[in-house]
Amino acid sequence: MTATAREWWRDAVVYQVYPRSFADSDGDGMGDIPGLISRLDYLSGLGVDAIWISPFYESPLHDGGYDVSDYRSIDSRLGTMADVDVLIAQAHERGIRILMDIVPNHTSSEHRWFQELLRAAPGSPAWDRYIVREGKADDGPPNNWKSVFHGRGWSRIRQGDGTPTGYWYLHLFDTTQPDVNWDNADVHEEFVSTLRFWFDRGIDGFRIDVAHGLVKEAGLPDFAYPDAADDADATPAMFDEDVAHAPFWDQDGVHEIYREWRRVADEYDPPRVFCGETWVPNAERLARYQRPDELHTSFNFNYLEAGWDAAAMRTSIDETIANHARVGAPPTWVLSNHDVIRHRTRMAPLGSNGRPDLDRGLRRARAATLFTLALPGSMYIYQGEELGLPEVVDLPAEARQDPAWLRSGGTDGTRDGCRVPIPWSGTGPSYGFGPGEATWLPQPDDWRDMSVEAQQGLEGSTLELYRLALRVRREEPSLGDGPLEWLDAPEGVLAFRRTGEAGADVIAVVNVAETPAHLPADWGTTILVASGDDVAELSIDDGGAALALGPETAAWVRG
Ligand code: NOJ
Repeated sequence: MTATAREWWRDAVVYQVYPRSFADSDGDGMGDIPGLISRLDYLSGLGVDAIWISPFYESPLHDGGYDVSDYRSIDSRLGTMADVDVLIAQAHERGIRILMDIVPNHTSSEHRWFQELLRAAPGSPAWDRYIVREGKADDGPPNNWKSVFHGRGWSRIRQGDGTPTGYWYLHLFDTTQPDVNWDNADVHEEFVSTLRFWFDRGIDGFRIDVAHGLVKEAGLPDFAYPDAADDADATPAMFDEDVAHAPFWDQDGVHEIYREWRRVADEYDPPRVFCGETWVPNAERLARYQRPDELHTSFNFNYLEAGWDAAAMRTSIDETIANHARVGAPPTWVLSNHDVIRHRTRMAPLGSNGRPDLDRGLRRARAATLFTLALPGSMYIYQGEELGLPEVVDLPAEARQDPAWLRSGGTDGTRDGCRVPIPWSGTGPSYGFGPGEATWLPQPDDWRDMSVEAQQGLEGSTLELYRLALRVRREEPSLGDGPLEWLDAPEGVLAFRRTGEAGADVIAVVNVAETPAHLPADWGTTILVASGDDVAELSIDDGGAALALGPETAAWVRG
């Protein structure tokens, strides 16, 4: 394998599969691994380099599989270990790499370790694998930490007959997700051997869940929550910058864990890779996770949060690139995932009826994606964004499963709306998601025209835009990893040049404004890809030509 091939992750396009919502092979309404295998040709045709699959381990599913009861078994509703072996082999045959998802901050309360704790006497070794403390003198929890999913971050340990003890366990997420204690040697050994278990089976790496959360500040001090989050039942404690400095996030000690993991990954040939889920306050803190002996990449959520705002996008790009350069790591870009509102809806301006204007949302989302795909580094695409799917905002309460929804009494919990099973074909129930009519979350009635079948081969469709962009990105030597040079551009427009070794430059430009922009004539008029058809060639005074780029449109131009 060449050095470049070994470093495939530096500029990969990684497609996120949320397995329960991707493709259902058996008609039970829940996506599964055989369903995913049956769609590998689709992913290969889309042109992705790798897939990251959200957890499919054994789990009681109180948090969509991020509550793992056995890290080395497969949820029987999703498939078998033999299916996973076939998946790895068939993906590799197509040149697609596989990243799995590891959840090291917490286990499920049904994990054998937590069950052992419940059976063991206080203070016994089984207790030390989790974060357990005595309550305060007033019989309250050990400190004021809250759960990301609302309410207290602590629950009492109860004896077998339900009698409460004076001890509490920490759960930064749901009560069924106790935080493990990373000061305990068993925890280190167990996770390292889980990494090896999957690396030995042939996977190419892991996305690390809550990578910034594993280590808690010594003494577990109270946290001075910012005012907005100080209501006991409203705790935007992970996805909010104000709380990113909390004693339970981004503690320096966490880096030792990744140094240990990196040594394991580097023992393999080719070396296995990591991408951290790191919600941290700024690009400088983020880059620490990518020091050469730690994680290969980490999600850069700051860019996702910049939204559709030229100045914020530019600032985020500059800071991210500069800080990653200091540690020699490539940036990682992401606009949608299974935890955030789909970017078509998130970027949509409000229409005159006070609701998001989804037509403009799609226009902006396509432009943002195309522009982002030209940035240096790797890019993550969330299943269904290539179809231009919007967020499903009107799911009935009884269908919702997000623990944040359940714990907030139905006032928060936006994450089900991006997890609705995706439409593949046809006009009928389930839109080809499975052989039957069932889907574990209901699909909207108007998804027929957004299915893969409806968009395949259709000029101008969002699916064809993604395919074209990924193909050109692969073919153009200047795209992917490498330097970027900003160009002076009209107000509301961002533009940069990527210079390839072959001298075939690409200029990526996005018009974030609401009026057309006239581009400088010396950028040329050869369009490689455009996010919409609102791009025109204009004659200019000296007889030459220049491009006019419509509002909310992006293009790649041969520079
Ligand atoms: C981040 C995951 O992406 C999210 O879905 C999950 O609920 C939390 N971590 C807790 O594991």
